[in-house]
Amino acid sequence: MSMSPIPKTAPFAEEEIDLLNRVVGTASPVQRAWLAGFLAGLDASGATLVPAHPAASARPAEPLTIVYASESGNSEKLAGDLAKAARKHGLKPALIDMADLELSALTAAKRLVVIAATWGEGDAPARAVRSYNELMGEGAPRLDGVEFGVLALGDTAYAEFCAVGRKIDERLAALGGKRVTGRVDCDLDFAEPAARWIGDAVKALTPPNAGRGIEVDFGAKPAAAPSADRLEAEITDHVDLNSSRSDKETIHLALSFESGAPAYQPGDSLDLYPENDPAYVDELLKIAGLAGDEKLRAEFIKSRDVTTLSLKTVETYATSTGHQYVKSLLDDGQAREWISGRQLIDLIATFPIALDADKLRALTRPLAPRAYSIASSRREVGDEAHLLISAVRYESHGRARKGVASNYVAERLKRGGNVRVKLKPNKHFALPAADKDMIMVGPGTGVAPFRAFVQERRATQAKGRNWLFFGDRTFTHDFLYQLDWQDALKDGALTRMDVAFSRDTPEKIYVQHKLWERRADLIQWLEGGAYFYVCGDAKAMAKDVRAALVRAYTDVKGLSPEAAEQAVVTLEREKRYLQDTY
Ligand SMILES: Cc1cc2nc3c(=O)[nH]c(=O)nc-3n(C[C@H](O)[C@H](O)[C@H](O)COP(=O)(O)OP(=O)(O)OC[C@H]3O[C@@H](n4cnc5c(N)ncnc54)[C@H](O)[C@@H]3O)c2cc1C
Ligand SMILES: Cc1cc2nc3c(=O)[nH]c(=O)nc-3n(C[C@H](O)[C@H](O)[C@H](O)COP(=O)(O)O)c2cc1C
Repeated sequence: MSMSPIPKTAPFAEEEIDLLNRVVGTASPVQRAWLAGFLAGLDASGATLVPAHPAASARPAEPLTIVYASESGNSEKLAGDLAKAARKHGLKPALIDMADLELSALTAAKRLVVIAATWGEGDAPARAVRSYNELMGEGAPRLDGVEFGVLALGDTAYAEFCAVGRKIDERLAALGGKRVTGRVDCDLDFAEPAARWIGDAVKALTPPNAGRGIEVDFGAKPAAAPSADRLEAEITDHVDLNSSRSDKETIHLALSFESGAPAYQPGDSLDLYPENDPAYVDELLKIAGLAGDEKLRAEFIKSRDVTTLSLKTVETYATSTGHQYVKSLLDDGQAREWISGRQLIDLIATFPIALDADKLRALTRPLAPRAYSIASSRREVGDEAHLLISAVRYESHGRARKGVASNYVAERLKRGGNVRVKLKPNKHFALPAADKDMIMVGPGTGVAPFRAFVQERRATQAKGRNWLFFGDRTFTHDFLYQLDWQDALKDGALTRMDVAFSRDTPEKIYVQHKLWERRADLIQWLEGGAYFYVCGDAKAMAKDVRAALVRAYTDVKGLSPEAAEQAVVTLEREKRYLQDTY
């Protein structure tokens, strides 16, 4: 008997036909007979069903195209939330990762939502770069009459706040699209504004006669409380992997979980909830004239971002205090340059004025968690999760600076203590099939996920070969997880390893130089179907590595630069060139 007894021509929406087929198609003859009798009896009695959902309309659902440009998953998750809301309200959403977007899909769209994050310094998320450039390029198609809305995700700490969302919004309008809902630029605490925007967007994009012609509740429903899935972990190991003579400090942190480790996969990260340095908070409060305020001190240490200085902070300061110098900094257009390399403490120290607790708090935003790649496989470490965290320390404008989370870990967390974390899955940076070869490029802390990959491949006895490129400053003082790699080479979990220690030779050698040196084998592996993974620094390394690979194609295959670029684009499109960079 057919499993799909309800024909596509039935007077129901496509989704409802699917639903009916799921129930009726698998029903037993007794269940079908009962249903037939029940419905016949119901009609004969003139009674009406009280539907859990409002009555379905015979009209096909109106389509909605949702495109997301995401790197760490936030925009992707919101796109899913939007699809759910749209479906509830009679629209038929199609979700498209911008990585897979063909621009022709946009010309065919009647209504379009784009949710886009900004990365690097005003760049598109790595996966989305190709279609983002196409959209911005001269060859982009006209989008006359396409109704659209854009939600931008970003971080006010960056000079190019929400630049990608803003540019997409402008571009869609320039191509003839009709903006039916205004863009919202979200900071790191995006849950509520994004939920509100989704509610508004669904409302604006739903035609009055959409699928279910009923009044619906468009009220914004923020995602579950952000604290809901935080876990308390115990620190079972806390080791500096650099030697005492290194000028770096990179902590191997082993965490264990009382009720079992979260169900992480190799390639996933943990969000770690830090606390601020009490010494910094004390200095800030002193400079602000609020040194005795213990309540504010506790709040600042635990839950406010008291270091970031954004243009928005400067504007709030100027408005709330009326400080003339700060106002003229903004009016003269110099504020953007002035904040570079500075923190909140510099603003208040340089432009002091009487402040109360509320005014000072208004200059801060919620303290955001920091992501760290998981450096272990559950198959090898059971209920633990390992992280590899490099302490960020630098000097700027005459002041010693310390990264909040990395120094919370390096300086204040101790073995036996606790820390709060949350799993941040990344299905776009996962292991390939067991028989596929992998090339992993992970200098510095970029090597963390590859320790998880290698552990997993060993535990599952995966047949594919594994080749690691690692780099750092010196062999003697900075060879992170050296013993692990030696063991892996010995037991075959690693097939090959190439290292680049930039400060061991007069001329600096980085991983991209090693890739170039090994280009013949590299291209041979890739031609044999190998997957290419890059993790770590996004500013320089990831770009240099990609450029080295393009050059390798030109040299080994004798391709023109354009054809070599195309070869790498093909790897990206096939999802064999995967990045997790920061
Ligand atoms: C998906 C993902 C995975 C990650 N995995 C890892 C990992 O495995 N290991 C790891 O160590 N990190 C990892 N990171 C980075 C990590 O999340 C933090 O960004 C990093 O630890 C710094 O956080 P912090 O709180 O210590 O510094 P913050 O307080 O956030 O300060 C960092 C800021 O300081 C400024 N800054 C830093 N250096 C300088 C400088 N030299 N000059 C001027 N300004 C400077 C920059 O504005 C920078 O944004 C990952 C990031 C992502 C997104
Ligand atoms: C390395 C890095 C660079 C970033 N660069 C920017 C930037 O230039 N401008 C901005 O507004 N946000 C920037 N962000 C913030 C992200 O856009 C923000 O975290 C966003 O929520 C990520 O969304 P996604 O998970 O969908 O990728 C950056 C974040 C990281 C980790």
